[in-house]
Amino acid sequence: MKVTVINGNTRHGSTWHCMDLLKQELSRYEAIEVTEFYMPRDMPHFCKGCFSCFLNGEETCPHAESIDPIVKAMEEADLVVLTSPVYGMDVSGQLKALLDHLCFMWLSHRPNPKMFNTVGLSISTTAGAGLSHTTKTMQNSLKFWGLKKRFALKEPVSAMKWDEVPTKNKAKIRRDVALTAKKIAEKVSNIEKQPSPLFRRFMFKMMLGMMKKNTWNPTDRNHWEAQGWLSGEKPF
Ligand SMILES: Cc1cc2nc3c(=O)[nH]c(=O)nc-3n(C[C@H](O)[C@H](O)[C@H](O)COP(=O)(O)O)c2cc1C
Repeated sequence: MKVTVINGNTRHGSTWHCMDLLKQELSRYEAIEVTEFYMPRDMPHFCKGCFSCFLNGEETCPHAESIDPIVKAMEEADLVVLTSPVYGMDVSGQLKALLDHLCFMWLSHRPNPKMFNTVGLSISTTAGAGLSHTTKTMQNSLKFWGLKKRFALKEPVSAMKWDEVPTKNKAKIRRDVALTAKKIAEKVSNIEKQPSPLFRRFMFKMMLGMMKKNTWNPTDRNHWEAQGWLSGEKPF
């Protein structure tokens, strides 16, 4: 199984340890090949809001050099993992900066067919609060990139570092991670046979109608045309 992990911080803290446990659990089912990125080390820029990715293509993003290898690794993955600690009730700023750069591949712009048979997972830890909001931010990207199946690990740790996480919380994390790894391994093994999510079908249909009339962004429209979607080809 090819796994691409995008870490929302550079610390080997509680979030990293959850992700590390997940890798161990997944390895029980099949050999895994992991590509990892750390924010902000591997993508240290904020989106400038220049609209160039939308209007001229993602290769014209001023930060394409950092973005391109991440997208390539996501395209090759069976499983894409986003991780973040809760910072101010949401994802870390450095992860959000990456997610902003990847809006060009949302279903509402230029969906990437290589994402359509991919499984997604978000992992978040918090001292106490904010897991729902933080998870929602990561899940929104996984959902709007058009991934087929999505899972979430939401772990309250009551701690500032992994060594201080109470035994009871660690035991729960181990159980949650083991169960999630099992479900992911099952889904990845027969992903082609899994049904297309309702949201994705609905969104695709709505955007198809809009793209047919699209005179405001030829780059988006050309993408839909090149995929054959404007002439009736079905992506899923
Ligand atoms: C800048 C910052 C903001 C934080 N904001 C919250 C918060 O809003 N709510 C909360 O319960 N914990 C908050 N925390 C605690 C972390 O979410 C928690 O300790 C997390 O497990 C740290 O993950 P890590 O060990 O992977 O770095 C914050 C920590 C930092 C450093």
